[in-house]
Amino acid sequence: MNIRRALQEDLAVVFELEKKCFNDPYPIELLTMLQSLYPELFLVAEHDGRVVGYVSGLIRTDGSGHIVSLCVDPEYRRKGIGRQLMIEIEDLMKKLFNVCIYRLEVRVSNSIAIQLYESIGYRIQARMSRYYSNGEDAYLMIKDACLIR
Ligand SMILES: CC(C)(COP(=O)(O)OP(=O)(O)OC[C@H]1O[C@@H](n2cnc3c(N)ncnc32)[C@H](O)[C@@H]1OP(=O)(O)O)[C@@H](O)C(=O)NCCC(=O)NCCS
Repeated sequence: MNIRRALQEDLAVVFELEKKCFNDPYPIELLTMLQSLYPELFLVAEHDGRVVGYVSGLIRTDGSGHIVSLCVDPEYRRKGIGRQLMIEIEDLMKKLFNVCIYRLEVRVSNSIAIQLYESIGYRIQARMSRYYSNGEDAYLMIKDACLIR
């Protein structure tokens, strides 16, 4: 498995993956905007030349790193790809943008993702009421790595 920056040419495949991962996928226009805004923070995981996962993020005005989306092809789950993508994007945020606080939102029902995030140091900070379009709440999760820089 290899993790690399996504190219514009990857976005159609990323969008197909996004649809496999989420009932309310981000539109391809949003994926394109994210990739052009922070190309160094839009990564794909490749297995045998095939894109099987992606992660994207941005830097907020307060200097924290925001993980916007994480998705692994259902056929390739539970092999450590999601965790590896998270580690890689955090490292890049730290190296390139001096980030030490990371944040993300996750559906309160998404216990698999919550377990992954907790296993790498994220903690639930707040519950955001009706955050998603179907009315579901989100947890805001934060990882504060400032003391271990
Ligand atoms: C969440 C997701 C990205 C995890 O990707 P993955 O490659 O399967 O994750 P990993 O193999 O790196 O697993 C890392 C940890 O997550 C947790 N985890 C992953 N799959 C799990 C499962 N089926 N049951 C319980 N815990 C699970 C475990 O803590 C695991 O660590 P371990 O294998 O050492 O026990 C993937 O399930 C996915 O794409 N889901 C749909 C999209 C989504 O929910 N994205 C996050 C939105 S905020």
